[in-house]
Amino acid sequence: MNERCFVAVAARKGGVGKTVVACGLASALAHQGRRVLVIDLDPQSNAAYVLGVDPIAPGTAELLTGGAVSPLEATQELHVLPGGPELGSQRIQSLHPEELAEAVISLNYDVIVFDCPPGNEYLERLGVVAADVALVVTNAHPLAVIGAERVLEILESYQLKGRRGPGRWALVLSQIDARRSLDKQIAPQLALRYPQIPRFVIPQDTTLSLAAAEQVPLMDYDANCRGATELVALAQWVLDPDSFKGANNA
Ligand SMILES: Nc1ncnc2c1ncn2[C@@H]1O[C@H](COP(=O)(O)OP(=O)(O)O)[C@@H](O)[C@H]1O
Ligand SMILES: [Mg+2]
Repeated sequence: MNERCFVAVAARKGGVGKTVVACGLASALAHQGRRVLVIDLDPQSNAAYVLGVDPIAPGTAELLTGGAVSPLEATQELHVLPGGPELGSQRIQSLHPEELAEAVISLNYDVIVFDCPPGNEYLERLGVVAADVALVVTNAHPLAVIGAERVLEILESYQLKGRRGPGRWALVLSQIDARRSLDKQIAPQLALRYPQIPRFVIPQDTTLSLAAAEQVPLMDYDANCRGATELVALAQWVLDPDSFKGANNA
């Protein structure tokens, strides 16, 4: 296992479950005793909200502009830097793409999870460039799949060009309800198109949305729900793909 692990959760499309995956994964890792920081890259600060900390407190924007930052405590092991509207400012947009990668080096955490925003390629790139592992999230909707494909292209191009960025990535099929026909087709379709990329399924699970709405980290809300079980498996792959037996579970 790596000593430290930086994970980007990205999708390009909004509403596909990035924040639920990022915060659930962070909660699973913190529950195992790792010191985890969630860096919220969304101007809407949804990750901070979901984890029950003040979404308008100073956070990621201050980190990026060299200010002093004190991450907020969701639980003892799970800390958060909130996003916020300042992330959309010209000042942040004119930063070098490696700025976040440099800024996190001195932070003392075992795992850092970057929750990337929808739509905003610039903020997404800051998170992706800073990560060693990427989780590309899509639900079964064709527009979500197109968004995930854009992210995969970027990951491949960074790797081909020898640029800073993730050395490995997985597809996370999110909000999957096997009773729906699109949801049934998505796993085999992606398996055919991307046979080499590990796939994980996070089911449509009301408990995940309730934990988020009630602003309680998932493992403190219900560590035994179906969604939590799948996120714990994903956490294992993130930390140590060699010891993981269940990859390509989709
Ligand atoms: N696997 C899931 N099961 C049930 N609800 C989910 C699941 N994933 C996400 N949701 C709900 O869908 C909505 C969008 O999810 P969110 O994680 O905020 O998406 P994104 O970060 O990609 O915009 C939220 O209301 C969230 O609670
Ligand atoms: Mg989000």
